[in-house]
Amino acid sequence: MIINQVKYFLFRENAKDKKGRETLHRIGKCFTIPIKTSDRKDTNMLSPRAQKIKPSPTLAIDSRAKAMKAAGVDVVNFGVGEPDFDTPDNIKEAACRAIRDGFTKYTPVGGIDPLKDAIIEKFQADNNITYKRDEVVVSCGAKHSLYNIAQALYGPGDEVLIPAPYWVSYPDQVLLNDAQPVFVQTHEKDSFMVKPEALEASITGRTKALILNSPSNPTGMLYDRKTLEKIAELAVKHDFYVISDEIYEKLVYDGAVHVSIASLGGGIRSRTIVVNGLSKSHAMTGWRLGFAAGPADVIKAMTNIQSQSTSNPTSITQKAAVEALRGPQEFIAVMRAEFDKRRTFVVNELNTIPGLHCMTPNGAFYAFPNTAKIYGSRFGDRAIASSTDLALYLLEEAKVALVPGDAFGNDNYLRISYATSLEDIGKGIDRIRQALQNLVPVK
Ligand SMILES: Cc1ncc(COP(=O)(O)O)c(C=O)c1O
Repeated sequence: MIINQVKYFLFRENAKDKKGRETLHRIGKCFTIPIKTSDRKDTNMLSPRAQKIKPSPTLAIDSRAKAMKAAGVDVVNFGVGEPDFDTPDNIKEAACRAIRDGFTKYTPVGGIDPLKDAIIEKFQADNNITYKRDEVVVSCGAKHSLYNIAQALYGPGDEVLIPAPYWVSYPDQVLLNDAQPVFVQTHEKDSFMVKPEALEASITGRTKALILNSPSNPTGMLYDRKTLEKIAELAVKHDFYVISDEIYEKLVYDGAVHVSIASLGGGIRSRTIVVNGLSKSHAMTGWRLGFAAGPADVIKAMTNIQSQSTSNPTSITQKAAVEALRGPQEFIAVMRAEFDKRRTFVVNELNTIPGLHCMTPNGAFYAFPNTAKIYGSRFGDRAIASSTDLALYLLEEAKVALVPGDAFGNDNYLRISYATSLEDIGKGIDRIRQALQNLVPVK
């Protein structure tokens, strides 16, 4: 492919100009030489923006494990971030009906009114927040909603506070929009909830937003009301937005109650954009349906951005989503009860493995064991000095896929997704136990 062309002239040396000075003298006509893609050696044609980001490490591990499985290797995959349940039949049937009825054309960019209304009802019933249609936008997954928010709010010079450990896409979405992620480390002794004092210490005149995720991926932590109230006070006092990712809202255990920060009084509602979706609550990861609710001006900007990128979420998925939100909800309790069983099992088992300890998570479907005591050991000439070393060792030697904590901003942990059968969990834990027994400490 021809990507550019260069103009050439022929010159004669030692010619003189009109004043007698030595100069080059152009002879003959200009000619052009095309440059082909194959001639380009060092020129990087990718935008600086594209060069700043990395592919999602969780998806990378998952696809590596799936490739090993496809090649016949018996891998236990603890890397997945999606329920292992099938989408309920009533939701599938609503989608089939949409196709049969010919509901297969463009829809309004931000979603059809019946879906917006179902989302408004959901916020009212679950979170006690009242929204209007112009305060809601439907997107192709919660990740897409978060990306639209990033495009609508962040720009050069802006700082975005991200408590760590964080979900992998937050920092890259900030970077993609030329803003700066500012990490605020949280600690296991505080159940991985960000300390309001630590948050306040990181606030500057450039702070544009804070990204909160409750329940959290990867830690499974659920924010309590008191901490959220303090965070809300800070957002109002220092006038920044809170992006509240509540995608795991329905997966909370031990009677814990999920609180949306937007439902707290005192001006926080108008500074919060709540993100949610159906991927985790209704086992609909492949359908791509997420939504956001917040101040009308931000929602309008997000809708405009979406109108220039994906347009509407799939018409068929939108019909399925109305059924998901308004139809029977018993499925969620069944799925939650199963996750709860696995959560207890996985945490108990992990805590019997020498060198590991694991906090009991209150939400989501992840366990986040501390692996720091393992570092500084080796298997043959293989040194285990980080979460990535450990995750690669477990994948290659024990055939267990999990995600290194480093991907989430804390190298002292691994993330285990228990969205897989109890049988697989048992098998995977036994393999981890054996593999860790095979390590020898470095003297
Ligand atoms: C915390 C968090 N937010 C958002 C998403 C994205 O969800 P969706 O599949 O709806 O894009 C995920 C998916 O893993 C997640 O873990």
